Amino acid sequence: MLKIGVLGTGHLGKFHLNNWKEIPGIDIVGFYDPDDNIAKEVSDTYQILRFSDTLALMESCDALDIVAPTNHHFELCEQAIKRGKHVFVEKPLANTMQEAEQLVKLVNESGIKLQVGHVERFNPAYLSVKDMHLNPMFIEVHRLAQFNPRGTEVSVILDLMIHDIDIILSIVKSDVKNISASGVGVLTDTPDIANVRIEFHNGCVANLTSSRISMKKMRKMRLFQKDAYIGIDFLNKKSEVFKLKDSSDNNMFAFDIETPHGKKTVAIANPIVPEVNAIRKELEEFRNAILNNTKTVVSEIDGLMAMDVAHQILHKIGNLIITT
Ligand SMILES: NC(=O)c1ccc[n+]([C@@H]2O[C@H](COP(=O)([O-])OP(=O)(O)OC[C@H]3O[C@@H](n4cnc5c(N)ncnc54)[C@H](O)[C@@H]3O)[C@@H](O)[C@H]2O)c1
Repeated sequence: MLKIGVLGTGHLGKFHLNNWKEIPGIDIVGFYDPDDNIAKEVSDTYQILRFSDTLALMESCDALDIVAPTNHHFELCEQAIKRGKHVFVEKPLANTMQEAEQLVKLVNESGIKLQVGHVERFNPAYLSVKDMHLNPMFIEVHRLAQFNPRGTEVSVILDLMIHDIDIILSIVKSDVKNISASGVGVLTDTPDIANVRIEFHNGCVANLTSSRISMKKMRKMRLFQKDAYIGIDFLNKKSEVFKLKDSSDNNMFAFDIETPHGKKTVAIANPIVPEVNAIRKELEEFRNAILNNTKTVVSEIDGLMAMDVAHQILHKIGNLIITT
């Protein structure tokens, strides 16, 4: 059995506990949360041991799941890694680039497994298309949420847009060439809504809009590439693909379009979306990486790269506020 300890059992930490309970091969040793009310609720509901000391919990575990506020990620990760413990840490990896770089160094030196909680990588809609030949040249993203004070200690870039940044960096195999961005804090001191254009060296352009002050929710990514359009609806867990038909597409619905270069046949596919609980899947993959000694699906380098782009965006907007 892999011994797991959970650090931080607020909103998301409880979802993690629910999922850890269902994952085979996991022994939840206990949890740490400084808030007495939350800790009592967790002890009562899950019947697991509350530790009053993070180090004692770490010493009793093989791996730690860090679901504490972002300004505590570095200190908790550092303590765990220095004790040779594997770490799952929620996104963003850390509060500052210096902290994130230091964590990457510590992971390298220790050889432990670290996974960052970029959970959209496990969203069934994304899983349904991720193994297609994705080579987008234009990406349009809308991630809109209603206002919720939870999470507003950081900007909408680090709270919401970072999910899309991570997905885009995992798809576009090219370095970032230029970033333009604008954003405004409407209800808080940090940007609540932002629009960002990321240009890559291979010519791909990604246009991202994120808002946490919208009336309606939306989490959509549209990829346009030479031979296809791929739509990913993260919220409704659906995907669609329109592509130029080739001989392997016999079973797909198709229609003809007259173009200046003659008739083209477009095939439409609704990819099979797996029935997957994204949080459970990311935690299972973390367990698998430890047990099989393989790379984690979202590594510390991925976490660092997403933070790097997010921080460049915040510099452009002129709002690099770090919480302490
Ligand atoms: N992957 C996602 O989609 C997603 C969604 C929401 C939140 N998050 C991330 O998860 C983390 C927690 O967010 P949340 O919404 O659950 O916040 P929350 O405020 O609901 O919960 C945080 C909990 O951590 C506890 N805590 C405070 N200091 C601590 C410490 N030093 N050690 C251990 N616990 C401590 C708090 O008492 C609280 O119970 C944040 O980093 C956030 O960015 C990720």
